Amino acid sequence: MTPHVAGFAELTPSLLYALLRLRIDVFVVEQRCPYPDLDGRDLEPGTRHIWLADGAVPVAYLRMLKEPDANVRIGRVCVARVARGRGLARALLAHALDLAGPRTCVLAAQAHLAGFYASLGFQPTGPEFDDDGIPHVPMRRAHGSAATISPAGYGNAASSSVIDLRRPV
Ligand SMILES: CC(C)(COP(=O)(O)OP(=O)(O)OC[C@H]1O[C@@H](n2cnc3c(N)ncnc32)[C@H](O)[C@@H]1OP(=O)(O)O)[C@@H](O)C(=O)NCCC(=O)NCCS
Repeated sequence: MTPHVAGFAELTPSLLYALLRLRIDVFVVEQRCPYPDLDGRDLEPGTRHIWLADGAVPVAYLRMLKEPDANVRIGRVCVARVARGRGLARALLAHALDLAGPRTCVLAAQAHLAGFYASLGFQPTGPEFDDDGIPHVPMRRAHGSAATISPAGYGNAASSSVIDLRRPV
């Protein structure tokens, strides 16, 4: 299992296809939610696409957006159905938070996953809200928030072909 980080311009057409396919398979098809996944933000220069690949096939994905207030917005967190329950989402989030460094991270958690994000140091910042029919909770994580981040079980990260986990988002 290999972690990758890339800006939009670094994605090859086939990689972009695979990442968008994963997002659509999960959020649109599986969750039966026709929503505008292609919102334009994938192309922004501050956006980073992060994924784990099983061979050449992306099986876990998230994106990090640079918000106007300099916070990092994490979104589109998804894992292919066949790859779930193996700690990939937790590992991917751990890498994203490492990449974010001292910056505050925000996200809109699907409500049933608020506990998962809380275990990574996120705290609710407002009431539950409906987004395309799915209940969400706004959450925020300041740098240094208590967390139980553990990339354990995620595979051999040391031998990965990570592009550069520490470059600016
Ligand atoms: C949610 C999702 C990303 C989890 O991926 P995963 O690789 O199976 O997750 P992990 O194995 O890393 O598990 C992380 C934690 O989340 C918890 N979790 C996973 N799915 C859950 C669910 N449906 N409900 C509640 N908790 C869940 C696990 O119990 C685990 O907790 P633990 O580490 O304390 O045992 C994946 O199921 C998915 O893609 N779901 C559909 C898309 C989605 O809802 N994305 C989140 C948007 S906010």
